[in-house]
Amino acid sequence: MLEGEYGEAISIAMKILVAIGEVYGAERLIPIRSAHISGVSYANIGQEGLCFIKKLATGAKVKVLTTVNPTAIDLKLWRLLGIPSDFANKQLEIVRAFLRMGVRESFTCTPYLIGNLPPPLSHVAWGESSAVTYLNSVLGAFSNREGGPSALASSITGRTPLYGLQLLSERTPTARVILRVSPTSTTDFSLLGLSIGLKLREGIPLIENIYGDHSQLKAFAAGLAAASNISMSILKGITPKGTYDLPEISLLERVEIDENELQELREQYCSQIERPDLVFLGCPHYSLKELNFISTLLRGRKVQKDVKVWIAVPRKVYFIASKNGLIESLNRSGVLVIKDMCSVVTPLNELGIRSIVTDSAKAMHYLKLRHRVEVMLTDAVSALNMVMKG
Ligand code: F3S
Repeated sequence: MLEGEYGEAISIAMKILVAIGEVYGAERLIPIRSAHISGVSYANIGQEGLCFIKKLATGAKVKVLTTVNPTAIDLKLWRLLGIPSDFANKQLEIVRAFLRMGVRESFTCTPYLIGNLPPPLSHVAWGESSAVTYLNSVLGAFSNREGGPSALASSITGRTPLYGLQLLSERTPTARVILRVSPTSTTDFSLLGLSIGLKLREGIPLIENIYGDHSQLKAFAAGLAAASNISMSILKGITPKGTYDLPEISLLERVEIDENELQELREQYCSQIERPDLVFLGCPHYSLKELNFISTLLRGRKVQKDVKVWIAVPRKVYFIASKNGLIESLNRSGVLVIKDMCSVVTPLNELGIRSIVTDSAKAMHYLKLRHRVEVMLTDAVSALNMVMKG
């Protein structure tokens, strides 16, 4: 592959992996079970990224199950959302190039909700910080936090360099986090994750007294990875046994998180918004169960005029929800269910959106960083109650 026997595109992919392996001192490459590619949004990768992907698409196909991250647009509803056509056309070129290589039509940051669900101890090459952190911490599969090019190179070659979190010996805690809070809502979990990430910035936290369902852990992983280099946490009782190495924990640095810290974080990021331009839910993309909950909550109610409510889901969830009548029911309430899209990388300013209420600390963090918008963090029920009639 490296020497070009299978074509230039595959040789480029292999050169990327060999270079990474050399930098990190990997002994060899190992086969992977699946890949998940980030760096799909035109807003993030620009013209250079588009050219790179198109070049690989001329001569390479993916070798393993490969899902891809959300784009910057809903591939069908982009005109309705008011996204400029120049931008949408560039995004569509990227999508077509990925599809030519044989990736699944996924376009989601929650690939584990739509069938890319590797078992514990399996080796994969995933990009997207929230998904990688969930994968290592909750599913117990092994992945480094890949960049878009390296995840793509791995999907094309079916290999990844053996280093970092691919090695059991590296999956060992670097700090012990003592929680003085008991998160309850999904939003609480995401803020807790963000807070730990900001405090530690790197390493692998060991967290002993955390109890959450899948939605809450998904939100926690996203928050944890959003502002840090952390790609794994060891959640006692949740992270599958045998997928991490636990040393003598009394030797670990102790870090405490209490309610005051979470409150300070809210104050640091959030504005007081009375009437937002947009309520945004689904960062990371919502599951069918989460969408169902919102639909039940809103039945018979309507969003106030001039307020947008977007809920982002994987397209597979969208199609199931559509068959079940959920999408229609939510549309009747004035809610737009979007797919294929990460609202954080969509051109929000060009859509006239200046204030956003969200239930996700990851979205709050990135919206603040990337866009000149006011943001408020609150749980989904409170966010929707702010903008419903009556
Ligand atoms: Fe997904 Fe975008 Fe949030 S990729 S995790 S919706 S920032």
